[in-house]
Amino acid sequence: MNINTLKVKVDDKVKQALVVLNETGLGTLFVTDGNDKLVGVLTDGDIRRALLTGNGLDEPIVSVMNTNYTALPIETDNAVILEAINSNIKIIPLIDASHKLIDYASINKIRRISVAAPLLNGNELAYVTDCIKTNWISSQGKYVREFEQLFTAYHQGRKSLAVSNGTVALHLALEALNIGPGDEVIVPDLTFAASVNSIIYTGATPVLVDVEQDSWNIDLKKAEALLTPNTRAIMPVHLYGNPCNMDELCRFAEKHKLLIIEDCAEALGSYYNGKSVGTFGDVATYSFYGNKTITTGEGGMVVFKDDQVADRAAMLRDHGMEKTRRYWHAEVGYNYRLTNLQAAIGVAQFERLDEFVSAKRNIANTYNQTLSKINYFQIPDEKEGAVNSYWLYTFMVRPEAPFKRDELIDYLHLEGVETRPVFFPMHHMPPYQKFGKPEDLTVSAQLSQCGMSLPSSVNLTKIELDHICNAIKGFIKKFD
Ligand SMILES: Cc1ncc(COP(=O)(O)O)c(C=O)c1O
Repeated sequence: MNINTLKVKVDDKVKQALVVLNETGLGTLFVTDGNDKLVGVLTDGDIRRALLTGNGLDEPIVSVMNTNYTALPIETDNAVILEAINSNIKIIPLIDASHKLIDYASINKIRRISVAAPLLNGNELAYVTDCIKTNWISSQGKYVREFEQLFTAYHQGRKSLAVSNGTVALHLALEALNIGPGDEVIVPDLTFAASVNSIIYTGATPVLVDVEQDSWNIDLKKAEALLTPNTRAIMPVHLYGNPCNMDELCRFAEKHKLLIIEDCAEALGSYYNGKSVGTFGDVATYSFYGNKTITTGEGGMVVFKDDQVADRAAMLRDHGMEKTRRYWHAEVGYNYRLTNLQAAIGVAQFERLDEFVSAKRNIANTYNQTLSKINYFQIPDEKEGAVNSYWLYTFMVRPEAPFKRDELIDYLHLEGVETRPVFFPMHHMPPYQKFGKPEDLTVSAQLSQCGMSLPSSVNLTKIELDHICNAIKGFIKKFD
C-alpha cells in the first residue's frame, strides 16, 4: 500500500481518520505535520479507547494520537526491521534524517524490491568452504584455474585471465595491447565511468562518441568523424546487456585498422549472430560486481584473441614478474589477481549462467508486455540476430510524455520499488568534459535524462513483478 494513502494531518478530525482507516484496512495511520514530518501514529485501538473515555469524533487527531511510537531510519536493514516487528508493533514508519515520513514496513511488506540482488544459493557455500578447508584462500588455487577455463570454453577457446574487478580488467586489456600516451581510443559517451577511466589510466586519450537512439550503443556513423591518425582502438560497450552490432563494428575496425576492446561488463550471456559477446574483439572484459549477471563480490575477467597478448597480460597481472624467473620483473606491472575464494563463488555462479539469463529474459518479457502498450515508453532494443541478456531492464520515458522520468522513479519508490536512473553522459562530468563536444553527444544526453532501470534480480517473484507492473499502470492512469 502506498504510504501517501496512510497519512493523515495532525489537525484533521478523528472522524476523517476513521474514514481513512476504513478505506485502507491496515489498522494504522501515520500522522504528519504541515512539513510532512511524522508526529504520531494512530491505530483503530487508539480511537476506540478515546471514544470510550468520552472523546468525540470531532476532536482533532492530535488529542488521541500516540506520540510514543517506534520509527526507524529508511536505510535500516530488513533484518533489524524484522527484529523490531513483534506482537505489539506490527507496522513501523520509516523516516529520513529530518524525520520526514518516507515509507513503512510491516511483516507483509518487509522487502523493498531491489534493482539487482545476487542469488547465491547454488554451490557457492560448498566451494568457498572447500577453499577454507583446504587452506587455498589466496590467488593460487584450483577455482581460479577452473573459472578461467570456463570462460575460455565459453569464448571459443580464447585464453582468459581472472582479475580483481571489471575496471582493472579494462586497464589490463589496454596495457596488454600497448595502448598508451599519444593514442586515442573511441568510447561511447553513455557508459559507466570505468570504461573511460581505464583509458585515462594508460595515458591515452578517450574520444567520446554518441550512441544510437534505438540500441543505446556506440554510433559508428558519428565515430567515423572522430577518427584521427592517432586513433588506435575502439571500445564498444554492450550497454545493459544489449549487444552492439558487431558485424558493422568489426568491419569499421578493420577498415580503419583499429584494435577492439569489448567492454562486456554488463553483457555476460548476450549473443550477436550466434556468437557470444567477447568473441569479436582483440580483447574483451567482464565485471563480477555484486549486481552483475554473475558475481564474485568484486571480480573481473579478461578474454584474449591472441595468446601472446594474454601471456603478457598474465605477467602484468602479477607485478610484471616473469613466469619462469621468480622475483624477476620484466616490466612494471600490477597486482590485479582474483582470489581463489572469489573464483569459487564465480564457478558456482557460472554453473547457473543459462538459468540466470533465461530468468532475466523472462523478466524483460513481462516488462515488455506491460510497457509496450504504453505510448509514453520506449522499450529496450533487441535487433534481429541479437540476444539481449537484459542485465538490467532499462527503458526510456519518451521526452514528450506528460511526466518526467524522475516522477515515475519517485512514485515507484513509494511503492517499495527500487529503480536506477541511466548513467550521466560522460561529457557532462568535470573530469571528462574535454573529451567530447556537447553538440555531438545529444542522444546520450537525452537517454541519460529519460532512461531508467527496473528491478531485474533473477529471483524476482511473480508477485513482485506483478506489483511493479501494476504500480507503473497505476502511475500512468493519472495521465489518461
Ligand atoms: C560498462 C561497465 N564497464 C566497466 C565496469 C567496471 O566493473 P567493476 O565495477 O567490476 O570495476 C562496469 C561496472 O560496473 C560497467 O558497467
